[in-house]
Amino acid sequence: MARIIAIANEKGGVAKTTTAHTLGNAFLSMGKRVLLIDADAQGNLTDACGFDADALGEEHKTLAHVLTGQTPIAQAIVGKELHVLASNQFLQRLNDALVRESEAPTRLRSYIRAIANNYDYILIDCGPGITQATLNAFGAADHILIPTRLDRYSVKGIERLANTISRFAEEHNPRLRVLGVLPTMFQKNYKTERDYLSQLRHHLGLQTPVFEPIPMTGWVNNQVSKIKSIVSSRPTSIGAQNYMLLAHTIDGAPVAAPHLDVDVGTTETHGTRHSEIA
Ligand SMILES: Nc1ncnc2c1ncn2[C@@H]1O[C@H](COP(=O)(O)OP(=O)(O)O)[C@@H](O)[C@H]1O
Ligand SMILES: [Mg+2]
Repeated sequence: MARIIAIANEKGGVAKTTTAHTLGNAFLSMGKRVLLIDADAQGNLTDACGFDADALGEEHKTLAHVLTGQTPIAQAIVGKELHVLASNQFLQRLNDALVRESEAPTRLRSYIRAIANNYDYILIDCGPGITQATLNAFGAADHILIPTRLDRYSVKGIERLANTISRFAEEHNPRLRVLGVLPTMFQKNYKTERDYLSQLRHHLGLQTPVFEPIPMTGWVNNQVSKIKSIVSSRPTSIGAQNYMLLAHTIDGAPVAAPHLDVDVGTTETHGTRHSEIA
């Protein structure tokens, strides 16, 4: 039975898609069977995996077609090694339609159940904002992995997201747990970033892991646009190594992590509101 991990943060540009893509490849390199689900109408993950989201839309092979019952999930999945359930702008229209349906957040879970035994990991890349697609990802997932940048508003946003997750879990998915927070694009030369990292670690404490930060590197950035993941093309780079470490950590972690009980201390961090290189 697959472990299902939604990769989510209301903010865009925090490396959700990069994390889904790279972590998926990291699990693959460990011999795991992996399905990546693109739950963002922008289709960035679909594109990063080398698929044409619009062409797949024409073939009715997208998440939206699965969620509307038009295509059985097994027929919508593409890819040879890394399996992918694509998305494109159809998902945006579906988001609008699903808002009116109360059972909507549990739909994806019921479809995934049919194929969950075929995989070790199912990673769901959420789009920005709390859309119906995001709620479906929360409804289907066992875990949520929260990538974040280390700045004031991102760190504040985690507390809001944690509240949303807790409310959602109570109402729709009591199995849902926060797997941990992944600081991304970490620039260790910036004192502000180091301070927000310690603040995160201090406030989240032992209950919710703050994973080893992924450094800001040109390679991660370039490799996403070149389709191949850095874990296969640049295995010795620090970005690749940290994502491999994350994959091994997740793989060794107990299935049920404790609930996120978070107060990330959104009060001022003394002297760290402005970026300064130490
Ligand atoms: N560790 C990193 N170093 C440098 N650039 C990165 C890193 N992680 C992600 N990026 C880049 O940051 C941008 C936003 O990442 P993306 O994964 O698309 O974020 P999201 O899915 O949260 O919107 C992309 O251009 C991506 O290539
Ligand atoms: Mg994205």
